[in-house]
Amino acid sequence: MQKIAVLTSGGDAPGMNAAIRAVVRKANYHGVRVVGVSRGFSGLIEGDFKPLDLTSVGDIIHRGGTILRTARSAEFLKEEGQRKAVAQIEKKGKEGLIVIGGEGSFKGASRLSSMGVPTVAVPATIDNDIPCTEYTIGFDTTVNTVVDAINKIRDTATSHERVFVIEVMGRTSGFIALAAGLAGGAESILIPEMGYDLEVVVDKIMRGLTRGKLHSIIIVAEGAGDVIEISKKIKSMSNFDVKVTILGHIQRGGTPTAFDRILASRMGAKAVELLLTGRTNRMVGIKSSNITHYDIDEALKEEVMIDLELYDLAGILAR
Ligand code: F6P
Repeated sequence: MQKIAVLTSGGDAPGMNAAIRAVVRKANYHGVRVVGVSRGFSGLIEGDFKPLDLTSVGDIIHRGGTILRTARSAEFLKEEGQRKAVAQIEKKGKEGLIVIGGEGSFKGASRLSSMGVPTVAVPATIDNDIPCTEYTIGFDTTVNTVVDAINKIRDTATSHERVFVIEVMGRTSGFIALAAGLAGGAESILIPEMGYDLEVVVDKIMRGLTRGKLHSIIIVAEGAGDVIEISKKIKSMSNFDVKVTILGHIQRGGTPTAFDRILASRMGAKAVELLLTGRTNRMVGIKSSNITHYDIDEALKEEVMIDLELYDLAGILAR
């Protein structure tokens, strides 16, 4: 293998740049040339490729976002778009592809693999909702960003003796909410994977106030319900002064943590190694601190579930 391509796709995640850097530098170490594809599968369909050398990936390890830019391509979901993408790879003489992204990107990688393009996927999404890996690139940074926000909100919540309902990202998963809620000492954590009863939430706040607590923090994952509605209900069920904060896209930006940079470096390098040893349709993962790899289709059949012990622990400790 002499020439490979790399792209980032789906929602950006802090650490994607560190992964691109690792792909380029590891490939270069083995004498393999790398091109970067702009805007994910959209750029692949259009043939928007640019060579990446050691210098092009200098000074990016600490930057959030992705220098390759990213997109969610509707055209690539159709077979015609996929054929166009394969034709571009063949036309430009690329012998392998590394896809850095989340679940949707993994499905795209699997499709390209089945159409004859040797493809390896690297999990990068702030949501941490990819099977067969304990961590995805970007999750740790986002959790730290949310915890920092909780700390700040806690200051003002305490000063005014208020209840804060904070919405965090996670359309279909509660990983960010659970980890940040536990680390931030939230009173309640509402996530799409688990049912909840607002009466229990209100009762818990009440008990805290009786014990002399000056504030309450409720973390709500996007997918667990409308925060405005939730806060209105809490207000109507009590006399609390309830405020809402929607953290939004600040959760996706910012300098990646050392954890994410190391994870991205290890995973990016492993992806190159897999391609160079003739593997295709593989995803890189991390398990018990070891970098592993799995068949993408097999991995996608697995259910991703939050850690129930962690969920219970958060409930026990935030009393
Ligand atoms: O998939 C990552 C993610 O950040 C989700 O947590 C969030 O719901 C979604 O992307 C937001 O996507 P967009 O930026 O396209 O609105």
